[in-house]
Amino acid sequence: MSTTNRGLIDQTWSKVTESQVWRSIFRHGYPDTPLNQSLVMMGNVFLHLHPVKVSRKAMKITYTWCLGGLSFFLFLVLTITGVFLMFYFVPDQNVAYSNIQQIQSAVAFGNLVRNMHRWAAHLMVVTVTLHMIRVFYHGAYKPPREFNWVIGVALFLVTLLLSFTGYLLPWDQIGYWAITVGSNMASYAPIFGTAAHNFLTGQPVGVGQPTLIRFYTLHVIGLPLVGAILMAVHFWRIRKDGGEAGPPPPSRRELEQARAQQAQTQAATRERVPAGSLN
Ligand code: HEM
Repeated sequence: MSTTNRGLIDQTWSKVTESQVWRSIFRHGYPDTPLNQSLVMMGNVFLHLHPVKVSRKAMKITYTWCLGGLSFFLFLVLTITGVFLMFYFVPDQNVAYSNIQQIQSAVAFGNLVRNMHRWAAHLMVVTVTLHMIRVFYHGAYKPPREFNWVIGVALFLVTLLLSFTGYLLPWDQIGYWAITVGSNMASYAPIFGTAAHNFLTGQPVGVGQPTLIRFYTLHVIGLPLVGAILMAVHFWRIRKDGGEAGPPPPSRRELEQARAQQAQTQAATRERVPAGSLN
């Protein structure tokens, strides 16, 4: 390329990057200094969701196994497939069972989508439980993340309740009797037992149409909404708490052991090198 052409390209490029339009979108220079790196992270709508600095070790996939991310992904799959199922499902005890059969046999992609919804629901319970165990194992529930642990416990309950309420909707034998047993167990709770049972089932004895409507409403609106709000707070807190906790720094004993080992190695090297040979 000739020098004139290169000069022209450079001139045009600096005109573009100095224009008001460019500067209104990209507010900071190339992120080559720690300050510019932080400013770029904070000024970008997508990047600002991440903390400015993260521990390199905590970024390893084998540290978190992405279990929180997988739980969120499954929640999104459940929302999308759930909306599809809502197009066809009617929460009426006379038609609910046959609705599900029709979704599987007569609706295009119905069988696939219903199975995706079921498997994602089972998997989400598994990933959320494993995520909770991972967080506990790494001691990431300790300050400053203790509040996020509490939000996590609420998310765990929401996940279990979503599974519980969804189980009744196909109105088949297994769902019907599982919810009968589950709601009967609620009545054994002290003081509020009967109230809890009646709140769940909408009637004093057994499971019926009022129960189906309650479970449906909680399953498609109430619990997903609470879950989505809790997840937003959960992610915001992760960012505010400085990202992943990461492995703890080495203890004093580990540091002392490492220092002693280093001193030993140095002494052994000095003994092996004959005096005066380093001159
Ligand atoms: C719907 C359920 C949940 C979702 C979508 C979710 C999502 C996430 C994500 C994406 C992370 C970032 C790191 C990672 O992937 O491991 C995270 C971290 C964390 N989660 Fe969850 N989570 C859920 C449930 C829970 C539960 C049940 C607990 C504990 C009771 C919990 C406590 C925490 C804590 C304390 C952190 C910070 C961990 C650290 O700094 O190493 N979360 N969560």
